[in-house]
Amino acid sequence: MTLQGKRIIICISGGIAAYKINFLIRDLVKKGAEVQVLMTPSAADFISQLTLSTLSKKPVFSDFYSENGTWNNHVELALWADLMLIAPCTANTLAKMVHGLCDNLVMATYMSAKCPVLIAPAMDLDMYRHPTTQQNLELAEDFGHFIIPAEMGELASGLIGQGRMAEPETILKQIEYCFSSNQNRQTLNGKTVLITAGPTYEAIDPVRFIGNHSSGKMGFALAEEAANRGAKVILISGPTSQKTGDPNIEIHQVTTAREMFDEVFKFYEMADIAIASAAVADYAPKVVAKEKIKKSEDSLTIELIKNPDILKTMGEKKTKQFLVGFALETQNEEENAKSKLEKKNLDMIVLNSLRDEGAGFKNDTNKIKILTKNELSEFPLKSKNEVAKDILNFVEAQILK
Ligand code: CTP
Repeated sequence: MTLQGKRIIICISGGIAAYKINFLIRDLVKKGAEVQVLMTPSAADFISQLTLSTLSKKPVFSDFYSENGTWNNHVELALWADLMLIAPCTANTLAKMVHGLCDNLVMATYMSAKCPVLIAPAMDLDMYRHPTTQQNLELAEDFGHFIIPAEMGELASGLIGQGRMAEPETILKQIEYCFSSNQNRQTLNGKTVLITAGPTYEAIDPVRFIGNHSSGKMGFALAEEAANRGAKVILISGPTSQKTGDPNIEIHQVTTAREMFDEVFKFYEMADIAIASAAVADYAPKVVAKEKIKKSEDSLTIELIKNPDILKTMGEKKTKQFLVGFALETQNEEENAKSKLEKKNLDMIVLNSLRDEGAGFKNDTNKIKILTKNELSEFPLKSKNEVAKDILNFVEAQILK
């Protein structure tokens, strides 16, 4: 996406991750953005002002007055910006932001800004998970700011954990998201969308499990599309390698069907739309062996017991939610999908047949039919991102009926 003419303020606070901002500025400028860098006084200990101003092609401000005696007007700066990014955002700067402490140019500009604010925290793992930081991040979110969560990895202290600032590519993606979702029609603005995605793993012993080939791609594509349309998305995902950097998507990772069930019903009540795209294991081992099962006999029998049907329970507890299920079938597709629609009290079901090439698990494409009580619509083979658009267009049309 081009960022031609977009005005972005980058506020750098004093953390070792500041060096990564050079790469971000270079990429933003390449994409046509105008970048104004501001620094807190301690950021100068971590990164050179000369490098930043060379890359951004603008003077860098760190104080209310420049050396030549000109006043760096924080109000003008703030109103100039289409977007403000605080990166790296230290625990100290974050705390000042949410409690209104205004003792430097960055804080004064932040408090004068009317544009969207993105925050990329960076700190040591214990500081990051400290209740005060977590509470401050929640407060920042309540203000409507977008948090780009810190990542797992090796930290400057040598410890390993969550606290590393997101990579410049991730931050760039977030900035692009922000601009693209502002440009799009926000058709799901104010709506909460709950999505289940991916497979579930049911442990047999400490090293083995029963799982399936679901990649989670369809669920993540739905989550990103719903977030693009302005929804707050709660994504409950089984183990997958999918990632999303969208600040409007709250991910909850689970492993088993039971965990997915529990997590779903923490949020179901607040959902306006719920979409069950997860491939939930229907059965789990009755007993999970504490130690690794050794091969001894020629055959091994594992007794399985039924997992709770999450979608069916959602159907039973339905109040205001528009409920969407998925059906993956290999025969009598439409008939089976229709019967699931009724049995699980759904408003709509998305059918994919394993008989269609390019449909179902693992693929980047899918070919679907959508069934409601009275309608059946068939769609051609498309990328999962395009399929997500078709599904949400259909949902929106049903809701508006
Ligand atoms: N589903 C669920 N919880 C389960 C099983 C399925 O929420 N324990 C949801 C899936 O996310 C999907 C829909 O139910 O949206 C259909 O799943 P599927 O496994 O095909 O249907 P079942 O009712 O389990 O029927 P069957 O396995 O006999 O085809």
